[in-house]
Amino acid sequence: MYSAPVLGWKYLQYYLTAANGRGHGVHSPFVFKLITEVLNDDRQYYTYSIVEPLRDALKKNNTTIEVPDFGAGSRHQLSKQRKISEIAQSSLKPKKFSQLLFRMVAYFQPSGVLELGTSLGITTAYLASANNLIPVTSMEGAPAVAEQALAVITKAGISNVTIITGNFDDTLPLWLDKQVQIDFAFIDGNHRFEPTMRYFQWLKEKAHDQTVLIFDDIHWSAEMEQAWAEIQADPAVTLTIDLFFIGIVFFRPEQQQKAHFRIRF
Ligand SMILES: C[S@@+](CC[C@H](N)C(=O)[O-])C[C@H]1O[C@@H](n2cnc3c(N)ncnc32)[C@H](O)[C@@H]1O
Repeated sequence: MYSAPVLGWKYLQYYLTAANGRGHGVHSPFVFKLITEVLNDDRQYYTYSIVEPLRDALKKNNTTIEVPDFGAGSRHQLSKQRKISEIAQSSLKPKKFSQLLFRMVAYFQPSGVLELGTSLGITTAYLASANNLIPVTSMEGAPAVAEQALAVITKAGISNVTIITGNFDDTLPLWLDKQVQIDFAFIDGNHRFEPTMRYFQWLKEKAHDQTVLIFDDIHWSAEMEQAWAEIQADPAVTLTIDLFFIGIVFFRPEQQQKAHFRIRF
């Protein structure tokens, strides 16, 4: 992971080089529409008022739970005790991006959504609230964390979520075997080069022209920047959008020349 000053410097470079958030100078009608109708949609949806109080409650919850460390990628993880409040402060996508995920599902209307990295279920709740007829599958390695997520989902009154517990390396290929296609996936766990590329390759096998993949923390570390560069260079990828804290990947054949946008968000 980059140090705070390095990350700050990278953010500044992004901010100065990114297209302005109003879409001026963006020549792709598809991207322009996405900017004006989804990124810049500042309406306050009812879902926001349901999910954010649940996040606030998690931030105040001092219960301690056991969390295995997936960071080293070992199958024999060390576990540590962590307060739910600490996890809620440090591991969850802030509301700006969580709410963007909600709007993206509402806009693209995929037939299903996959999330890698449920954590306490906040982004899961947003992904699932966009349309209760769209099934959301969310994967989480830590059973005690997944249990908290389930409580969040239940409190939000959401019924279209299935949480699968276990290491992505085991659960993802098993689950993908049963899927015909992947329409929409948010990859927010195991932020290292090799697993990120592996998950990308697995998902790509089930991707189609309209598939949307969203990778979290693409500038978080040198490894993640390397993964993002390789994903952008993949011949099947035709269009990417870099919002600094997330990267969005499309396989649209209409995009005849590969294009990579950096957009201020
Ligand atoms: C950054 S958090 C997800 C945050 C959540 N999407 C949100 O913003 O509300 C990443 C989660 O992925 C899980 N994770 C990381 N590596 C994993 C692996 N290899 N298998 C299963 N779960 C993993 C962690 O336990 C952690 O809860």
